[in-house]
Amino acid sequence: DSHEWRAPTATDVRSPCPGLNTLANHGYLPRSGKNISIPMIMDAALMGFNLGPDLVILAAKLGLLSGNAPTTLDLNALALHGLIEHDASLSRNDFALGDNLNFNETIFSTLANSNPGVDYYNTSSAGLVQQQRLATSLATNPNITNTLKEFVIRSSESAFYLGVMGNPLTGVAPKSFVQIFFREEHMPIAEGWRRPNVTITSEILSPIEDAVAEL
Ligand code: HEM
Ligand code: MG
Repeated sequence: DSHEWRAPTATDVRSPCPGLNTLANHGYLPRSGKNISIPMIMDAALMGFNLGPDLVILAAKLGLLSGNAPTTLDLNALALHGLIEHDASLSRNDFALGDNLNFNETIFSTLANSNPGVDYYNTSSAGLVQQQRLATSLATNPNITNTLKEFVIRSSESAFYLGVMGNPLTGVAPKSFVQIFFREEHMPIAEGWRRPNVTITSEILSPIEDAVAEL
């Protein structure tokens, strides 16, 4: 199976995005993480997660500005602060405070420990997690950037992990799937996750994003 999970090698590069990294770790994107075009990203999102092009194209196009190649990007370049990369991330440190590219378990613990008592995350827990991560950054990062742009990106990312790892119609996602997605950048197939059988469009995911943003 060419889409088996494989850890990146020493020369492979990865991004601050668990979605793109997971697609690369499963070979939907080049495992090198390098020289990736917009159509490659759109195809990989559809093949791997059944995420429609309308949800991916804007970020993909923006991502091209992370480097100098005219039509491709390298995943690690997406750590460019202020392009898509922002403060108060769910699983990475703020740029001014440290490593804004690689997974950080301490940062991720806010999300990991959210929605106590049940085995799923939902739009309410995701909204609270976003509040908590923002409060921490506001309190600790004198250089924080927190405008409408970052707020919109952060809310869409919350909807992405709920919709891709869970039910895109309800925004309910099993904790175990979400944790494996972030921690291992691994599709939790062995744990029971399946690629959504309906293409997730912005029409489907917008209500989830709106519910998170409302909180
Ligand atoms: C961050 C999911 C596609 C670029 C994130 C985060 C999630 C996510 C959940 C938040 C990580 C965190 O806060 O720690 C996805 C999924 C995708 C996808 C499921 C489906 C393919 C893309 C595309 C691009 C992109 C197409 C651009 C080429 C980024 C970047 C970040 C990010 C730069 C870092 C933002 C930050 O937290 O500072 N993504 N994403 N993503 N994504 Fe994606
Ligand atoms: Mg960030």
